[in-house]
Amino acid sequence: MRITLGVTGGVAAYKAAELARRLQQEGFSVQVVMTRSAREFIAPLTFAALTGEKVITDLFAAPSGGPANLDSAIEHIAVAQRTDLLLVAPATADTLAKFARGLADDFLSTLYLAAAAPVVVAPAMNVNMWRHPATQENIAMLRARGVRIVEPGEGYLACGMTGAGRLAEIDEILAAVREALQLKRDLAGETLLVTAGPTCEDLDPVRYLTNRSSGRMGYAVAEAAARRGARVILISGPTALAAPEGVERVSVRTAEEMHRAVLEKFPACTAAVFAAAVADYRPVEKLPQKMKRNKAPLTIALEPTPDILADLARQKGQRVLVGFAAETEHVAENARKKLAAKNADLIVANDVSAPGAGFDLDTNIVTLYARDARENALPQMSKFEVAQRILDEVLRLRATPRLVPAARRSQA
Ligand code: C5P
Repeated sequence: MRITLGVTGGVAAYKAAELARRLQQEGFSVQVVMTRSAREFIAPLTFAALTGEKVITDLFAAPSGGPANLDSAIEHIAVAQRTDLLLVAPATADTLAKFARGLADDFLSTLYLAAAAPVVVAPAMNVNMWRHPATQENIAMLRARGVRIVEPGEGYLACGMTGAGRLAEIDEILAAVREALQLKRDLAGETLLVTAGPTCEDLDPVRYLTNRSSGRMGYAVAEAAARRGARVILISGPTALAAPEGVERVSVRTAEEMHRAVLEKFPACTAAVFAAAVADYRPVEKLPQKMKRNKAPLTIALEPTPDILADLARQKGQRVLVGFAAETEHVAENARKKLAAKNADLIVANDVSAPGAGFDLDTNIVTLYARDARENALPQMSKFEVAQRILDEVLRLRATPRLVPAARRSQA
């Protein structure tokens, strides 16, 4: 998700750098927009370095800071309109007045009028400016329009006075952002282990056996869980994807390595999602030198790899385990069988041959098969949205006590 962070000219502008960082740690991408007076307090370079994105400073300036340019104004607005939320911190009395009255004489105030996204403002100013009826009227007007106001705190102000006007604490601003985006933090306290991507089983130094897998589904689960407050350990086979913000990634290559990494991390986790496309077989022998081409037919001896999910399910305790079933036929039948055979709590099944589902796509069409026989066929949706639904089920299953057969209960 993308947040546009408007920084306006007050002493608290330096705190916006820390805010930008914290937003990124929560998994948001951050586009910073600075007003002219903000640039008197802090340099755009600070934000550019932190966010890895060009900072927008002027309505008409070309990205390189060149001459007035209408194209760049239109492009800037287009970029900024793609935001999921506009956050202004610190917001000066001047910016609040512009927003309230609909003045649009710089980039930020123009964006406020142009963007349809929710708006959060965190005012910071001198106590008298804050209490002034003009400011309070503007605040009331903005609030009535649905803008979320993160009220300034009491304390020592840079002007030497003490009172209301300090920028709210960063945690408070983050909470308002989450609330505005209706983001749940319902996985706080959980540790989720996620496997993702393919594994590569080497035949010789240049050839290997693998499965088709981009890793996107597992990475989406890891990212969604981190945003919902979980600690996430992502054990990933080779993929081209960057680790999502706030996720601990352990990179592995083979099924054997993935198995070892999962065994090591499993005790710490409260739930695990096995989204990796683990190779089912590996060459019995890995040749030390590149195999030479030959006219004769070639037979390669293969042996099964460890079934990581099935193995860990034997020692799962109260953990919720999620497996995937990528099928090309008899999807429901295979999914139900897998649920029982692997002792999983949830199987996410998809027909990888269906349009809109499967490899290298941003969308998926899945059905969830839960251990309590609840089945839920989801329509085509983004992998991120599928990830959210999987996590909803994980929470539901965690809250539902597992029935332990009487015979086993006595041993436990
Ligand atoms: O048996 P199949 O490969 O279809 O099972 C798919 C599920 O089992 C996936 O969740 C996959 O990550 C997991 N799996 C595993 N280790 C294997 C094979 C599959 O964890 N060796």
